[in-house]
Parts: sequence; structure tokens; C-alpha cells
Amino acid sequence: MTELAKTVTGFLAVFYYWIESIVLFFVPVRLKAKDISGELVLVTGAGSGLGRSTALKFAEKGCNLVLWDISTKGNEETAAMIREKGVKAYTYEVDVTSSEAVYEVAAKVKKDAGIVTIVVNNAGIVAGKSILDLEEKSIRKVFDVNVLAHFWVIKAFLPDMLEKDHGHLVTISSLAGLGGSARLTDYCASKFAAHGLMDALQVELHAEGRKNIHTTVICPFFINTGMFNGATTRIFSNLEPDFVAEEVITSVMCNKSLVLIPRFFHILYQLKILMPARSVLALHDATGGTDSMAKFTGRNSKKVQ
Ligand SMILES: NC(=O)c1ccc[n+]([C@@H]2O[C@H](COP(=O)([O-])OP(=O)(O)OC[C@H]3O[C@@H](n4cnc5c(N)ncnc54)[C@H](O)[C@@H]3O)[C@@H](O)[C@H]2O)c1
Ligand SMILES: *[C@@H]1O[C@H](CO)[C@@H](O)[C@H](O)[C@H]1NC(C)=O
Repeated sequence: MTELAKTVTGFLAVFYYWIESIVLFFVPVRLKAKDISGELVLVTGAGSGLGRSTALKFAEKGCNLVLWDISTKGNEETAAMIREKGVKAYTYEVDVTSSEAVYEVAAKVKKDAGIVTIVVNNAGIVAGKSILDLEEKSIRKVFDVNVLAHFWVIKAFLPDMLEKDHGHLVTISSLAGLGGSARLTDYCASKFAAHGLMDALQVELHAEGRKNIHTTVICPFFINTGMFNGATTRIFSNLEPDFVAEEVITSVMCNKSLVLIPRFFHILYQLKILMPARSVLALHDATGGTDSMAKFTGRNSKKVQ
């Protein structure tokens, strides 16, 4: 193809996919969703909260699960709940911040369970302090868990997906990965980074012609899991983990690349890009977002050390 033809077909494709996505928006999920039964799904941080709920939803769709967590107790509980659904669950105690541990356990997973075709990078931590109160060690830890670990996990599992020409990489970022928030400088920076990683990876896979390896970034509002205990806003209520997990599964089955939960936040996100900065800050005041972390206690302040 000549360079001119490439440019013209590229621009035509822009409009084609735009129209296709508008049409698909009106098609019911059950008609457009891909079949994921029988896939082997890895969920990191599967021992509690959203990781557990998401693993259970995948089990309900007939997937077998590989569960990773730093805490064995929670992970075993999740596994027992999954086996009740009649699918397989393999548990591993892994600290995802250690690249050696990730590669070593990934090799074990392949031997025990086979090739992982869906990866959900879900494990995450939060400190919830203003920038001058954050200790250097704690900032590094947040980056280690919330973004660097994703590199180790993707590097461990992507090669087999490429080999099979089949796979899906999912990252649990946050609305904090799309907009700033007080007392979350480290967390927002790490979640923006996780979002950036996936955005770039999607373009890289596209550049390599990998149409059957999909990426999904999930950006939820506060969820009632304990991680953000005490955090609230005036007008939006916190989400239930089951609701978010259902959205995760639907997004994967429909190959969505960026998903804000609740969906209404897609509108606010577009507005944020258009609005002047002072209007954005005023919107934080109006919704109670400015003080959302004022009463934050978190799950366990000892977790970030
Ligand atoms: N809770 C919220 O309000 C909220 C909102 C938006 C996004 N998120 C994101 O959702 C994801 C899940 O959060 P959650 O609310 O279920 O939290 P959670 O604390 O309930 O679960 C996190 C899990 O990750 C595990 N984990 C932590 N560090 C680990 C490590 N180094 N190696 C392996 N496992 C580790 C923990 O043991 C825990 O089981 C996180 O990435 C979080 O940032 C949460
Ligand atoms: C999602 O991707 C799979 C595999 O590449 C494809 O078969 C399916 O049609 C896609 N579904 C949607 C809704 O895009």
C-alpha cells in the first residue's frame, strides 16, 4: 500500500470504528459478548475485596482460576468458594513486587494448571496521606505493588498468549488513574502509570498486528472492600465489590479497553478534559471530592510499610 493509501484508509477506519461502536452500544451484552468458558484466569490480590469477587464471577462463567495473594488465608477462602462452583482453583502465595517470585511462580502455574489466557492485575495498596507525610519507603512500595508488579506479571504471561494468539490483559486502575485527588498523590501517580502502561501496550500490540490479544483498564470509584474505609464523597455513594466485578467480566467479554465505573463517570471524565482547571476544582468542592479522604482510616495502616 502506498503511504497516501495508508493515510486515507486509516482515516476511513477512524469513522468506521466510531460508527461500529455506536451501533454495538445498542446491542445487548449477551449477543455481543465473547465466550470465556474454559479459559484459565489469573487474578492477583484474589484473597479479598474486588479480586475475590472478580474471581468468583469468572468461575460462574465457567473459567478455571489461578489465585495469587500475599495472604494465604484469604486466598484459600476464595479458592473454596470457587471450587463450590464446579471449576478448578489453584492458589499461590506470591508477593507480586518481587519479579523473581513472579517468574518462578508463573513457571509453576504453567506446570500445574496450563496456559493462562486472561490476566487480571488487581492487587493494590493505598497509604492515604498528604505528600509531606508520605515516607519515601511507602511511596516506593505503592509504585511497586500498583504498577511495577504489572510489568513483571505481563512479562511472565504475555509470551504464551502471543504464542497461542489468544489472550486478555486486564488492569484494575481507578478513577484516581484519570484525575487527581487530595491525599492520594502517590496512589494517583501509580494508577495513572498503570493506565499509561496499558494504553501504550494496546498500541504496541496493535503495531505488531496482534488482534487477538486484548487489553482492558478498569477505573472504579470507591468500593466497599475495606481498602478505602472512611473515604466518602457527598453525592456519590460507594460501590459494592460484586457490582464492580460484574462490570469487569462484562468489559472483558466485550473487549472494552477503558471502563469507568459507574459509567456515568465517562461524562465527568470528558468534561474534565474540556473544563478549565478552576472549574474542575470547583466540581471537586461541589461533589465533596475535595474532602473525600479526610476521614480515611483504610483497612490496615500497617499494610504499607
Ligand atoms: N477499594 C476501592 O475503593 C478501590 C477503588 C478503585 C480501585 N481500587 C483498586 O482495586 C484493586 C483491589 O482493591 P480492593 O479494594 O479489593 O483491596 P483489598 O485490600 O481488599 O484487596 C487487595 C488484595 O491485594 C493483596 N495484595 C496486596 N499487596 C500484595 C502483594 N504485594 N502481592 C500480592 N498480593 C498483594 C492483598 O493481600 C489483598 O488481598 C486495587 O488495585 C485497588 O487499587 C479499589
Ligand atoms: C472480542 O475479541 C475476540 C477475540 O479476538 C473476538 O472473537 C470477538 O468477536 C470480540 N468481541 C467483541 C464484542 O469485540
